[in-house]
Amino acid sequence: MEVVIAPAEELAKLAADTIEAKLRENPAAVLGLATGSSPLKVYDELARRHAEDGLSFAEAKAFMLDEYVGIDADHPERYRNVIETEIASRVDFAPGAVNGPDGLAEDLVAACADYERAIESAGGVDVQLLGIGTDGHIAFNEPGSSLASRTRIKTLTAQTREDNARFFEDDLDQVPQHCLTQGLATIMSAKHLVLLATGKGKAEAVHQLVEGPISAMWPGTIMQMHPHATVLVDEAAASRLQ
Ligand code: F6R
Repeated sequence: MEVVIAPAEELAKLAADTIEAKLRENPAAVLGLATGSSPLKVYDELARRHAEDGLSFAEAKAFMLDEYVGIDADHPERYRNVIETEIASRVDFAPGAVNGPDGLAEDLVAACADYERAIESAGGVDVQLLGIGTDGHIAFNEPGSSLASRTRIKTLTAQTREDNARFFEDDLDQVPQHCLTQGLATIMSAKHLVLLATGKGKAEAVHQLVEGPISAMWPGTIMQMHPHATVLVDEAAASRLQ
């Protein structure tokens, strides 16, 4: 596991460099996209490189990590819509190239299996962007998630719902209770994991991620087993590292 400590703007550029290098090497690369605040500067940087440097996503595919269940199709916080706003609409992905778990499906179990198949038939994810929750979750694999898990329905913890209330007018009642999320084994199948974390609130999760024992109680620790994992953190998020 490679750990880089740098200011947030620098981290976003490093993550964008990794994605750009992959796309220049293989324009049909498969990207793994995260939502939340951590990757936003990366998306700004990729949009800028698309506009100014001709970085193209036209042949690429993308897979989102997770999606809320039971949120209106046009809700701005539906992850599919967030990804559309933050990155997909700002670059040149082909129609249908960006995929997400279908949180509006009638049969959610079948939707999860379909999603796993779609990732596999695309050849797997080449570069997976990740954030980490204050409780150590990656995607929505909350503490206690099976390290062997695949895409499935999960219940969000009270901590995560509180953390995410800021996206829902600070009204906890509006935050969905359930989600569909790639499992930890799904994420581990990606060829390169790039996790971003900034701010003091992430310090304990980053400490566990990098230095803690591998445990389902800190789901991000599974990344210690990955052959190519990069952890990009600012000074505050790194403040509990030994
Ligand atoms: C989002 C996701 C989550 C977030 C995590 C951190 O797709 O999978 O694991 O990465 O909750 O969120 P932020 O970046 O908002 O601190």
